[in-house]
Amino acid sequence: MQCLLNHGDAVGVETPSYCFSLPLLQSAGLRVYPLPVGPEGIDPADVERLHRRHRLKMLFMNPNFQNPTGTVLSAERRAALLRIAEKAGIPIVEDDPFSLTAFDGRPPLPLKAEDAGGRILYVGSLSKIAASGLRVGWLAGPQEIVSRLADARQQMDFGMSVIPQWLAAKLIEGAAFDRQIGRLRDRLAARLDELRVSLDYHLPGLVSFEPPGGGAEPVGEVARRFGSAAASRARTRDVRRRRLRARAGVRRGGAEFAAMLRKAGGGADRAGES
Ligand SMILES: Cc1ncc(COP(=O)(O)O)c(C=O)c1O
Repeated sequence: MQCLLNHGDAVGVETPSYCFSLPLLQSAGLRVYPLPVGPEGIDPADVERLHRRHRLKMLFMNPNFQNPTGTVLSAERRAALLRIAEKAGIPIVEDDPFSLTAFDGRPPLPLKAEDAGGRILYVGSLSKIAASGLRVGWLAGPQEIVSRLADARQQMDFGMSVIPQWLAAKLIEGAAFDRQIGRLRDRLAARLDELRVSLDYHLPGLVSFEPPGGGAEPVGEVARRFGSAAASRARTRDVRRRRLRARAGVRRGGAEFAAMLRKAGGGADRAGES
């Protein structure tokens, strides 16, 4: 980041966003401006507005299965965003650790695929699909930028150890990689389903969320007053219990999660629980 931007530069960042990205940008001395994420991703009009006011030097985005909202930037917004970025000359860093986890096996195209102007620096990673401990990722972008970043990396720590890179190459080239991705997708989709059923049972009407089509970070909205839903919980409990019995292992995890939410929300009785 420090080799592409200067202290005091203005950047636009999705809000909410991956919890570690904000401190990173702030500690680099950048002025960080929020781009609220809605059900269709960020609003390109917000980018235009921020740019008029602050002269944005870069956008940081995670357009596919955004962490933490799980949203995918809609086709209309992609087109508008690329138009605006092109016109205003704003480079975009596309952070994409989740595309390959698309539950239906059809990952949305990266924004980079539509980058006629060469403004996008695409960043992929093995962290979410294989092993975060490998610390291996990849970049696709203008040659000049990639060379500058490679040079900076070389100066920082003489370049990355070749062993994790060799392991990563073996993994990606091997036949097992596709199977690993397939298993991962199935597991994530099953966990999401468990979470949904479990929340339905333990906290009916209290947590709402739009199930994402991929990724590992579904986010929900917790009702402000837990107590108000106690009656509805009691009404629905028998149906829920029957549904839940069919799903081994769900209940315990859900109960722990529910207790955690109750604690965070100030606590409420467990009406509806047996
Ligand atoms: C959106 C996003 N970007 C980046 C990362 C971190 O990736 P890496 O481990 O490759 O640095 C994460 C990890 O959760 C993430 O959610």
